[in-house]
Amino acid sequence: APPTLKICNAQPTEAETAVWNQVSAVLEEAHGILAELQSYNGAGQEIREAIQNPGDLALQEKAWNAVCPLVAKLKRFYEFSLRLENALRSLLEALTSPPYAPMQHLEREQALAKQFAEILHFTLSFDELKMTNPAIQNDFSYYRRTISRNRLNNQQLEAENEVNNEMANRMSLFYAEATPMLKTLSNATTKFVSENKTLPIEDTTDCLSTMACVCRVMLETPEYRCRFTNTDTMLFCMRVMVGVIILYDHVHPVGAFAKTSKIDMKGCIKVLKEQPSNSVEGLLNALRYTTRHLNDDSTSKQIRALLQ
Ligand SMILES: *[C@@H]1O[C@H](CO)[C@@H](O)[C@H](O)[C@H]1NC(C)=O
Ligand SMILES: *[C@@H]1O[C@H](CO)[C@@H](O)[C@H](O)[C@H]1NC(C)=O
Repeated sequence: APPTLKICNAQPTEAETAVWNQVSAVLEEAHGILAELQSYNGAGQEIREAIQNPGDLALQEKAWNAVCPLVAKLKRFYEFSLRLENALRSLLEALTSPPYAPMQHLEREQALAKQFAEILHFTLSFDELKMTNPAIQNDFSYYRRTISRNRLNNQQLEAENEVNNEMANRMSLFYAEATPMLKTLSNATTKFVSENKTLPIEDTTDCLSTMACVCRVMLETPEYRCRFTNTDTMLFCMRVMVGVIILYDHVHPVGAFAKTSKIDMKGCIKVLKEQPSNSVEGLLNALRYTTRHLNDDSTSKQIRALLQ
C-alpha cells in the first residue's frame, strides 16, 4: 500500500532540513500572494473612462495612477513564480536522488513530499483565481499600450517605471497562459528532466505518479476519509492529485491518459467526481483543458467519456 502523506504535521528529518528550509521560505509567502490575488479588483472603471475620453488628461492620469500599483502587484506574482520554480527544482532533486525508489523517497522524506503537495495546491489555487479574473490581462495590456504610446514623447517614463520593457515582455508571456503557475512548473519539470541526462525520466514521472496514487487512495479510502475532519484537507488532496496528473501529462512522453500510464486515471477521475465539493468542476476542467494528451488517439474511450 502507498504511504499516506502526513498532511498535518510532517516534521523534517535532519537529512531534509536544508531543502525544507529553503522551500519553506518560499511557501511562507504563498498565502499572502493568494490573498493579494483574491482581493485584486483591477482598474476596469478607470481604464474605461480614460479610453472613452481620450482628450481628458485628468482621466488618463487617473487610469495610469490606478494601474501602476496593480502592475507592481502583477510583477510580485510573476517574481514569485520564479522563486517557486527554484523551490520545485530543489524538491525534485531531493525526491529523485539515487539510490531510492520514488515510493521510498516519499516515505523517507514526508516533509518534502508535503511541501511538494503545498506547491501544487498553491499553484492550482492561484490559477483558478487568475482564470476567473479578466481584469489582470485588461490592466496589463492597458499598461503596455500606454507605455508604448508614450515612449515616443517621454523617454523618461520607462526609466521611472518599476516594470521595464524587458520585464513587461516576460510578464506578458506569463499572464497570457491560461494557467500560468502550472505552466511554469511544468516547464521547470520538463527542463529538470531534460537537463539531467543521468537521471532517467521515469524517476521523475514515477515520483509524480506515486503522489497521484497516494492522493487517490487517501480520497477513496473510507478509513482515511473520516480522518479528514475538515473539507480543506480533502480539497488539498484533490488539488494535489490533479496537479501531479497535469504535471505528469506534460512531462511524460506519452502522458497520463495512455494505457501505459502509471497513473490510474479512471480511478482518479471517479474519486474526484464523488467528492462533495463545488471545486470538483473546476478541477475536472483543469484536466480537460490544461492537459496535453487527453485528445490523443491512445486515450481510452472510457476515460474520455468520464471527462465529458
Ligand atoms: C542529476 O541528478 C543526480 C541524481 O539526482 C544529481 O546527483 C545531480 O546533481 C543532477 N545533476 C544536475 C546537473 O542537475
Ligand atoms: C513554457 O515554455 C514554453 C516553450 O519554451 C514558452 O513558450 C512559455 O512561455 C513558457 N511558459 C512559462 C509560463 O514559463
